[in-house]
Amino acid sequence: MIIRSNRLLSVLCALLVMVGLSVSVEAAAQTCTTNDCHADFKWSFVHEPVEEDCLSCHEQTAEQHPREGGSFQMLEQGSELCYQCHEPMGRKLTLHSPVQEGLCVDCHNPHGSNAGKNLLPVDYDLTMLCNQCHESSYLENAVVHGPAASGACTQCHDPHESNEEFLLKEPVQMICVSCHEDIVEGMKTASVIHAALKSQVVLLAMIP
Ligand code: HEC
Ligand code: HEC
Ligand code: HEC
Ligand code: HEC
Ligand code: HEC
Ligand code: HEC
Repeated sequence: MIIRSNRLLSVLCALLVMVGLSVSVEAAAQTCTTNDCHADFKWSFVHEPVEEDCLSCHEQTAEQHPREGGSFQMLEQGSELCYQCHEPMGRKLTLHSPVQEGLCVDCHNPHGSNAGKNLLPVDYDLTMLCNQCHESSYLENAVVHGPAASGACTQCHDPHESNEEFLLKEPVQMICVSCHEDIVEGMKTASVIHAALKSQVVLLAMIP
């Protein structure tokens, strides 16, 4: 969900008012990415604001560019930069530590990516991404659960925040039966249900 900040809105409005000056936001981005400068800004998926206006995140602090010591600073630091347009996180019980620390760019390329819409350097297999900080030693076990082996970590975990333990997207039983529907199907018709399963209130609630 996108909530554009007032500041961004006013910048956009100002641009609309200044149509006479014929400065389109697209042109602004184009002057930064020429054959000579930032030519490596080419991805199959470009983050929308990058396509539109580099200055929605970077603020020019000196006339001359490039120059030693730099001539740009970030408009906001860490996650605050992203929260200008994206819904702020931190309203659920657990916030993933790197999100709390504002390290969005540890997992997201702020400019773009070839991998997918979510701007990660990876596509489906998130193992490498998560292993920057986690040791998934279970991957060396003789048998590894299908979705974990293929790096589909976000089938079960929310990478940002959650109301469940271990950043799980839903109560654990719900997650398991989202793929193993046969368990619930079996419980619907079974004449005897294993006592251990009877304590799983979440599961029983799914049986009419
Ligand atoms: C959505 C916000 C956002 C937009 C829009 C954006 N940038 Fe950035 N840019 C960042 C962030 C955040 C960093 C710091 C990345 C880091 O710390 O790893 C950065 C870093 C950079 C850097 C230095 C490091 C690098 O990746 O080379 C350059 C150069 C740069 N941006 C150029 C641009 C240009 C040119 C545009 C427009 C075509 C642009 N940026 C648009 C967020 C943005
Ligand atoms: C100036 C506004 C703006 C800023 C700042 C901004 N974004 Fe975005 N972002 C957008 C828009 C617009 C889209 C495209 C619409 C959408 O996909 O929801 C988008 C899309 C994304 C997507 C893909 C969403 C999807 O569902 O495919 C990710 C991931 C993302 N942004 C992360 C970030 C991160 C991380 C930062 C901070 C480094 C950031 N954004 C800063 C405006 C912004
Ligand atoms: C630990 C890695 C990690 C960090 C840190 C992280 N993200 Fe993400 N983000 C992901 C992954 C993975 C996805 C794709 C979600 C999926 O596959 O369901 C994602 C998806 C997104 C999306 C797309 C919509 C959605 O929720 O699925 C947005 C927007 C986004 N992230 C913004 C941010 C912002 C803003 C921050 C910093 C406050 C941040 N992310 C920090 C890993 C991360
Ligand atoms: C930039 C570092 C970093 C990255 C990348 C990262 N994590 Fe984490 N994660 C942490 C830290 C720090 C903690 C808190 C310490 C701990 O419990 O190990 C944590 C905790 C967790 C927890 C336990 C939460 C709890 O409540 O006990 C889960 C689950 C988790 N991360 C999953 C992931 C997944 C899935 C990915 C990849 C999408 C990922 N992490 C990527 C740093 C990271
Ligand atoms: C099938 C669902 C599922 C998948 C897929 C999955 N996890 Fe988990 N993960 C869990 C559950 C459930 C727990 C809680 C385990 C417990 O109760 O001891 C957990 C716990 C964790 C923890 C915290 C406990 C610990 O061992 O340090 C981390 C970190 C973690 N997972 C990372 C990952 C990463 C990284 C991936 C992808 C390579 C991944 N998980 C894939 C379900 C899953
Ligand atoms: C994203 C889909 C998905 C989710 C979610 C999921 N599984 Fe699985 N599970 C699989 C797949 C695919 C296999 C078969 C491949 C394999 O054996 O690794 C499997 C196999 C299994 C097996 C071995 C069954 C056999 O017949 O060999 C068990 C046990 C299992 N899962 C338990 C769980 C539990 C417990 C959870 C919840 C924490 C869970 N699964 C969540 C996809 C999933």
